Amino acid sequence: MTDYTTLQADLLRRVEGAADTAALETVRVEAVGKAGAVSALLKSLGTMSPEARRTHGPAINALRDRVAAAIAARRAALEAEALDARLAAGRLDLSLPAPPRRTGAVHPTMQVMDEMVAIFAELGFSLAEGPDIEDDFHNFTALNFPPRHPARETHDTFFFAPGPDGERKLLRTHTSPVQVRTMRRTNTPPPAPWIAAGQAPPIRVIVPGRTYRRDSDATHTPMFHQLEGLVIDRGIHMGHLKWTLNTFIARFFELQSVVTRFRPHHFPFTEPSAEMDVQCDTSGGEVRIGQGHEWSEIVGCGMVHPKVLRNCGIDPDAWQGFAFGFGVDRLGRLKYGMPDLRDMFASDVRWLAHYGFSPFAAPNPASGLS
Ligand code: PHE
Repeated sequence: MTDYTTLQADLLRRVEGAADTAALETVRVEAVGKAGAVSALLKSLGTMSPEARRTHGPAINALRDRVAAAIAARRAALEAEALDARLAAGRLDLSLPAPPRRTGAVHPTMQVMDEMVAIFAELGFSLAEGPDIEDDFHNFTALNFPPRHPARETHDTFFFAPGPDGERKLLRTHTSPVQVRTMRRTNTPPPAPWIAAGQAPPIRVIVPGRTYRRDSDATHTPMFHQLEGLVIDRGIHMGHLKWTLNTFIARFFELQSVVTRFRPHHFPFTEPSAEMDVQCDTSGGEVRIGQGHEWSEIVGCGMVHPKVLRNCGIDPDAWQGFAFGFGVDRLGRLKYGMPDLRDMFASDVRWLAHYGFSPFAAPNPASGLS
């Protein structure tokens, strides 16, 4: 029995003294490996008499268990030490900036449209919509364009090939056909709750949307965006039109007041017609609204022509109205300073990263809406 105690003490000392896992493995093989000292003792049990086995058996098994437990404990300790050493040697630099996250941006045109819609919503306007592919009646005839008006020529308008009935559809050249659709579409349920129903007067709608013309230079693109406005009520006059546009412009450019001027103009569907210009200064290379001695044209407008009212089934002796049509992209350029309109639709993500807006921003800080 004393042999066992000595052997156990010797093995435990060697286990404790193993400096690394390799040394520990050597001890393990010499103790409990196939040809190890403890294994030899276990084997010797087979040759003993039953009495001898009864006394030696438990002692040898206890020896084996003690040694195996000591080896497992030492191995765990060595592994923990090795991990601590590795952690102490390696350095994690938490000050390194994380790789940039690519986020999407709101296109300036959509941002400007949202801002415009928010302001007009506060002024009591509802939304109306119409199709991009129009017919001659809504785009031209009902709006009092004479049959040979130059805007009907292929020079300005994208026409489709004639259909079986000979009718040529077209890409709408302005959002004004939605004036006609809104006035004529009575008793039709609107496509969405926030879209104004086709209605008898009074009418107060805005129409944001895409429009198309054969045009391409720094200030024109074949596809562009307009925001139309239409108000029909009793006793409406130019004063209402001027107040509405001036109020909108001051809000949009976030100014207390802006100086605007109305220049006489011609549109077949309004009488009188005007273009409104806003005071600006372009001398420093960038546009400053509300300063300087220059004028920038921003909106076509006028009083709805009596013939248009009649074409839409509204009695011009009972009802009057005004209409206006903004170039949305152009207005965005004036507010946010994009130099070339064509870049707006070139789908260059670098341009969008520069001029785009956070999708989480409120539509317009000046409007009080969020
Ligand atoms: N539809 C006109 C255009 O595209 C703008 C406009 C709209 C003018 C409404 C008067 C009234 O140029």
